[in-house]
Amino acid sequence: MTLPKRYLVTSALPYANGPLHIGHLAGAYLPADIYVRYLRLMGRDVVYVCGSDEHGAAITVKARKEGITPQQVVDKYHTMLRDTLFGIGISFDIYHRTTEPIHYETSQDFFRELLKNGQFEEKMTDQYYDESVGQFLADRYIIGTCPNCANPDAYGDQCEKCGTSLSPTELINPRSTLSGSSPVMRPTKHWFLKLNEHEQWLREWINTGKNEAGVQLHDPAEWKNHVTGQCNSWLDGGLLPRSMTRDLDWGIPVPPEVPGSENKVLYVWLDAPIGYISATKQWAKDNGKDWQPYWKSEDTALIHFIGKDNIVFHCVIFPIVLKAHGGYILPVNVPANQFLNLEGRKLSTSKNWAVWVHEFLEEMPGQGDALRYNLIKKMPEQSDSEFTWKGYQETTNTELVNNLANFVNRVLVLTHKYYEGKVPEYQADMTFKSGFEVGADGTVASELAQLNHKITELIGFIESFNFRDALRLVMEISSAGNAVLQFNEPWKAIKEQPETVKAVMNTSLQIVAALAVLSRPFIPEAANRLREMLALPALSDQGELKGLLDALGNGEPLLAQGHIIGEAAHLFSRVTDEVIEVQVQKLVDNQPISVAPVPETTVSDVATASNQPTSTPSTYEALKPMIQYDDFAKMDIRTGTILTAEKVEKSKKLLKLSVDLGFEQRTILSGIAEHFSPEDIVGQQVIVLANLAPRMMMGTESQGMILMAENSEGKLSFVSPAAGWPEGMGVK
Ligand code: 2FM
Ligand code: ZN
Repeated sequence: MTLPKRYLVTSALPYANGPLHIGHLAGAYLPADIYVRYLRLMGRDVVYVCGSDEHGAAITVKARKEGITPQQVVDKYHTMLRDTLFGIGISFDIYHRTTEPIHYETSQDFFRELLKNGQFEEKMTDQYYDESVGQFLADRYIIGTCPNCANPDAYGDQCEKCGTSLSPTELINPRSTLSGSSPVMRPTKHWFLKLNEHEQWLREWINTGKNEAGVQLHDPAEWKNHVTGQCNSWLDGGLLPRSMTRDLDWGIPVPPEVPGSENKVLYVWLDAPIGYISATKQWAKDNGKDWQPYWKSEDTALIHFIGKDNIVFHCVIFPIVLKAHGGYILPVNVPANQFLNLEGRKLSTSKNWAVWVHEFLEEMPGQGDALRYNLIKKMPEQSDSEFTWKGYQETTNTELVNNLANFVNRVLVLTHKYYEGKVPEYQADMTFKSGFEVGADGTVASELAQLNHKITELIGFIESFNFRDALRLVMEISSAGNAVLQFNEPWKAIKEQPETVKAVMNTSLQIVAALAVLSRPFIPEAANRLREMLALPALSDQGELKGLLDALGNGEPLLAQGHIIGEAAHLFSRVTDEVIEVQVQKLVDNQPISVAPVPETTVSDVATASNQPTSTPSTYEALKPMIQYDDFAKMDIRTGTILTAEKVEKSKKLLKLSVDLGFEQRTILSGIAEHFSPEDIVGQQVIVLANLAPRMMMGTESQGMILMAENSEGKLSFVSPAAGWPEGMGVK
């Protein structure tokens, strides 16, 4: 297969209305960053673009909520997003924004071209209008009762209680969030892109990779199944014309010369992906390059990295926009990731159930690479995956500290000890126990051949967007290095077999040198430090991996004999119990009611940075979706009595209780410390969910949950059986 001449890689433009959490990072930024760093190390021509998505109702909703202007919202969050992304090492060539003039021009030109090409259908539709403020209402500005679950505060596009997608007309008793009044229907004109006219070529392109002329543009076998599957299910449902304009006062105006364009702006999902093009134009301008080949030349590979909620926009709507405009290439792949969960629940911006990346960088300085490593290891490439703090601790300590850092440290220290820091002689045929093949003997040359083989495999994984496996191979190489030392014990052999030890140490040093390049796409800061430790020039990210492969292919060592290495330096820090307990506690403390230490249920919450709800006070909490009796019957609820109660050190919310269930005593951590003093609740009769899976909290296992009632002001009350009722009785 011929290689593309150049690559244009994009990551989804984050909405400038909130911070980024680890799910965003694992979804669209880390995979792209690994890929482009790898391409650069292979000496390929690549441009990596991104920027803030600064339009849409999500921004104006946020502005109202914070009492500031939309411009102030995007200025604030653009800076925050940019600093966070660069802070965690995402190596964009440009991080742009969709409020830049070059983007307005580019987007309006697209609109004009689509209009000229007859791609729009102008239609009058009825839409909700708030008469008291004189404004049409975006879906997010209308709330009403969900027809599915009776949630009184469902949005015009979605109910956040039950997750159902809605249209504003489906809401019962709709009201405007701008004034609280009941909106009326009014006709309004919009420009609908005739998606339906593009169905045929799109289906063909997605499933065969061919364009209408039969030219093979991509190999459909290289697309992830869940991506193709989602596209086909959209196509099977039939594509309908979709409005590309909105009645909003924040956005890119419909070109003013277009009749009827007053007060109309472009739909945010029309302008946002065009943002990739504007960003490329700006990058080209800043760097004296031509942007056009990156978007118009068939020998460019365009790759969009996104989360699964953006698939339809990148595989259906944006390709149609590009084709309808004409002259643009289509993406060669859209390797969308699935979702990352956190401690058993969906990550949720609105529920503050998240690890915020900017907070991580502040609270855990110097651990950005450890976070990257953990997120890559758990990257939701094919299915949803899960991040836990316990897992973070274990992975960091075993893989980064015990395996990688320990190996590098031993090699450097021993090299200084035995050879005053000079790389010993490369004796290609000297035999010793292989680190790659258990129980086999190897030579320096054969060990390096094995290393070469592993690197080729690793590259295969990266090329097919299989970053978890690629990372695993980096670690296997480090493990092989450790095994070389472990099996040959140079510290014992140095006196009797100094020549063998030279070969062992030479091999180990070559492995460290390889790791200093191979680790770069995954843990870039650590790679830099490895290069420093080896006294090699900093990586320029311009073909070093290619150089390494060439050297190995030619049987040349990566570190020349006699090269003087630097000092061993700190690579990764061990994560203590305390550190992760603070993080888990922070999650719990962020929850409005934390009666249960960590709720076990997976909530049907689909809120992300892209759909922040505002809180609308209501006296009664909305009913949850209907469950079946079987769901209820799974819970074992018992009567009990609190025997002892004490505060949990370093926790504002938790009390540690011992509870008598009659047949046994349980330790239960309950989030009621702000409501009750320990001494007041000893002897209190309670109702306990007794078969909730135990959870470690602040170093203690919590073995159940006390049920509490909560009033509309957030006050808590015990729920208890009649006085004197025995412990351990079932509640049914
Ligand atoms: O879902 C989101 O956060 C969107 N802001 C992604 C936009 S991607 C691109 F098309 F700009
Ligand atoms: Zn609902």
